[in-house]
Amino acid sequence: MFREHLKKELNNIKNSGLYRTLKVKDGKFIDFSSNDYLCLSKHPEILNAVKNGLRYGSGSTGSRLTSGNINHEKLEEKIAEFKETERALVYSSGYATNVGVISALCKKGDLILSDKLNHASIIDGCRLSRADVLIYEHCNISHLLNLIEENWRKYEEGNLFIITDGVFSMDGDVAPIKELKKIADEFNAVLIVDDAHGTGVLGNGKGTLKHFNIKPSDNIVQVGTLSKAVGGLGGFVCGVEEVIDYLINTSRSFIYSTALPPHVVEGCIKAFEIIEKGEVVKNLQNKINIANKIFKKYKYINCGHITPIFPFIFGEKTMSLAQHLIDNNIFCVGIRYPTVPKGSERIRVSINIGHKKEDFILLCEKINDFLIDDKK
Ligand SMILES: Cc1ncc(COP(=O)(O)O)c(C=O)c1O
Repeated sequence: MFREHLKKELNNIKNSGLYRTLKVKDGKFIDFSSNDYLCLSKHPEILNAVKNGLRYGSGSTGSRLTSGNINHEKLEEKIAEFKETERALVYSSGYATNVGVISALCKKGDLILSDKLNHASIIDGCRLSRADVLIYEHCNISHLLNLIEENWRKYEEGNLFIITDGVFSMDGDVAPIKELKKIADEFNAVLIVDDAHGTGVLGNGKGTLKHFNIKPSDNIVQVGTLSKAVGGLGGFVCGVEEVIDYLINTSRSFIYSTALPPHVVEGCIKAFEIIEKGEVVKNLQNKINIANKIFKKYKYINCGHITPIFPFIFGEKTMSLAQHLIDNNIFCVGIRYPTVPKGSERIRVSINIGHKKEDFILLCEKINDFLIDDKK
């Protein structure tokens, strides 16, 4: 019965063209799919740190509040110093961080204002919190203000939260953090910024706040991941002492989940040391500039980007284009509904410091070939 039911559901997914399968990147590919923007996942010094970290064992053996608190506080001190906040707390993934932070800090009776294009983990955190949620149009400050002005009186003082990605994962654009912070101050709201794609990229690697020269303050909570530019695994939150203490005591995905393996922690500490030196971040900005010029010349983007994420929007053609690129040894992921709105299906091109100018040109040429064939 159950099996038949699932088969039927799967057929519905297939019939609507939304069936997903797992792909292995075997063979030699030029990879434009990964979030390893600084190529740190294979950095020799980090691999060495990971190897040394194995002296603690292959796993952490328990939650942070039981047997699993090994070298994690060392990483948290590093992150807090790096982000210039009072404290930081590490979770087992960026997803677990958003879900655990939002559902602990926001409650029934609160109001969350959330950007329309926020990541799925933010959406899930909002749902779990049982707070009221209003969605404002993407990066649209006047829509956000309208929503707040219409609604804030219904809530008690201090029950307002504004949540945004720092850098949006599918578009690579940057949230208007200065304006959001101003609104948060005006309405006594808390601003939660998920800097999963800003950390290691913007503001000399320190993230979106630094990019806008905004100092961490009592009403800002920063979330991030260790799995993208940092090249490892895990997530983190940073902010004032009381936020971190409160999360240690109430955040369910922190309390009831096994801590990160200690060798992963050692690798992440080394990664922050490398990012701090600045060279890899400068390299990335240089590659972003080169990519901008080439992608604009081929007309796959129409405005300059300051992050390594470039959406090439092709709509319905996207998935067959992605397959064409794979057939040509270029690995790009096609992103479609429901991850992005219908009509804005895209190839999400993410670049890293290992790419060469020729790789960007080859990608554009292969897309051109596909589009010419498609027209015939
Ligand atoms: C904006 C954003 N937040 C959170 C996450 C989740 O991070 P992780 O992959 O470490 O679970 C992602 C990952 O795709 C993301 O893009």
